[in-house]
Amino acid sequence: MAVTDILSPECLTDPAGVWEALRETEPLSFHEGMNAYVISRYRDVERAFKDPVFTSDNYSWQLEPVHGRTILQMDGREHSIHRRLVTPAFKGSELTAKFVPVMRRNSRELLDTFRHDGEVDLVGAFTTRYPINVIVDMLGLPKSDHVLFHRWYTSIMAFLANLTQDPLVTENGLRTRDELAEYLLPRIAERRAAPRDDLLSLLATTEIDGERMSDLEVKAFVSLLLVAGGETTDKALANMMLNLIREPEQMARVRADRSLIGNALAETLRHSPPVQMIMRQPSEDVEMSGGTVPKGATVVCLIAAANRDPRRYADPGRFDITRADLDFAKAYTAAANHTGFALGRHFCVGAMLARAEVEVAANDLLDAMEDIELDGTVTEQGLFTRAPSALRLRFRPTA
Ligand code: HEM
Repeated sequence: MAVTDILSPECLTDPAGVWEALRETEPLSFHEGMNAYVISRYRDVERAFKDPVFTSDNYSWQLEPVHGRTILQMDGREHSIHRRLVTPAFKGSELTAKFVPVMRRNSRELLDTFRHDGEVDLVGAFTTRYPINVIVDMLGLPKSDHVLFHRWYTSIMAFLANLTQDPLVTENGLRTRDELAEYLLPRIAERRAAPRDDLLSLLATTEIDGERMSDLEVKAFVSLLLVAGGETTDKALANMMLNLIREPEQMARVRADRSLIGNALAETLRHSPPVQMIMRQPSEDVEMSGGTVPKGATVVCLIAAANRDPRRYADPGRFDITRADLDFAKAYTAAANHTGFALGRHFCVGAMLARAEVEVAANDLLDAMEDIELDGTVTEQGLFTRAPSALRLRFRPTA
């Protein structure tokens, strides 16, 4: 029996069932509509992320038209210089000292809008706003522009996820590119002339081996950050809260021991990853489970399917914040054994930042809300990225 089409409404309702059917019966399949090969086993997806024969040249059509050329498309020396240019902002002492207070402020501001109400749509009131507000503040851009950035990232994300090439979505994405360039380029020039204590200045002025990012590279990177750091963390937080609410005993453990938030997020990235798929393009013919992927073809790497491969994880559909086969200590590093942040040279540069953001937010939410329950049914939405469209909750406010 043929596996349900990835782009069908049935798959949108229950992708996990389709991912399982693909992984077990057609580990390599060709999708006419997307003109792409689809892979779904952990071993194959891991290889596609780690083996340099799989290039990320696909981003030249998938992302470059809206962002310009970004780190995601680079390889070799160019990629490693760019990684070193941006990494200091997202790791270690810089991150904790400078940006955790920014996260706390933003988390509490949003929480204050509903903390005494006893009910909330957590997605509308918190998760879709918090990461983007944090990035805009980190960049040193005005609070009054939050709504603008929110609109831009929604449009860029739609462009990226436009698997059926809807022309209106394309047009909207290209308009966003122009608006964003008009907005950012003068501000980058200002920071070069007079650096401030913000991420935009850091990106504009950091030098590695005598190289700096050009104005257009900084603009492209900031535009990427809005999607890479906004939508993903938003959905990761919503998925994690939903997973914990559905598992009251695990919620109670996290409530009692907040150091387990890191485990809950890592297991969420495995069990219900916000980014469900990523593309690659091999530079040679490659043998994979189920056949050969020809040189130059687009390959859809199904992160969500790989992360539930029973060859890799016991009882993979179960959400378990202490599972023995997920390495929690390495879950936020390139040595991770889940594919939620990809693997290899493009492993998410914002993984530690995302963890810090989710820890700050989840701590605040759990402090303010007791006895959290779902209010009604939950509809999960999206194929490229996936999370609940709304998360209506009832709770008992703490004093
Ligand atoms: C839980 C939240 C997040 C998830 C699930 C996530 C997921 C991913 C994935 C799957 C990739 C690999 C893309 C590829 O290889 O084609 C990636 C790369 C990247 N992410 Fe994240 N991300 C998250 C948070 C963030 C944050 C907070 C930032 C920064 C503010 C960020 C910035 C980036 C950048 C710049 C890259 C490109 C790295 C490179 O090409 O070397 N991400 N992310």
